[in-house]
Amino acid sequence: MTGDSLDDLFYEGLKEMYYVENELFDALDELATEVNDGDLQNAFEEHRGETKRHVERLQHVFDHIGEPAKREQLRALDALVEDHEKFVDGKPNQELRNLFDKGIAEKFEHLEIAAYGNLLFMADKLGHDEAADLLKKNLREERDMLDELKTIGEQYDVESVPMQD
Ligand SMILES: [Fe+2]
Ligand SMILES: [Fe+2]
Repeated sequence: MTGDSLDDLFYEGLKEMYYVENELFDALDELATEVNDGDLQNAFEEHRGETKRHVERLQHVFDHIGEPAKREQLRALDALVEDHEKFVDGKPNQELRNLFDKGIAEKFEHLEIAAYGNLLFMADKLGHDEAADLLKKNLREERDMLDELKTIGEQYDVESVPMQD
């Protein structure tokens, strides 16, 4: 990452989130097709729709600051996506797959929440009020998704998940 001003840091962070949201739009589709728990599937599908709006809001943020919308790779996100691929390659049973996918989705949301929290802080400092309002909307939906995943997890019957002999 380059940049020696708060404006640069803010722009870099926006580009990373533009990358993350676009990647998650695909990842959520994969998660939704993998799980067989109705609540989890709905949560993934609905959040995919929200994720599309997150991408659009970020495009508006780029417009507000007068910079082109670009993607900057975020390796932390790539690592989580790779973990998911490796897990699926191991051909786990369906119960474990539901649990793993719920867990990886929570990690995605934590990453987004932390990133948007930082971007919001910088938008406030830089006086980008309209950008801050848009970022707040995304942040709220990430927090709601995390809460929903936690609620779904609390209902899981772990007794049905096979244990090692
Ligand atoms: Fe998002
Ligand atoms: Fe999200």
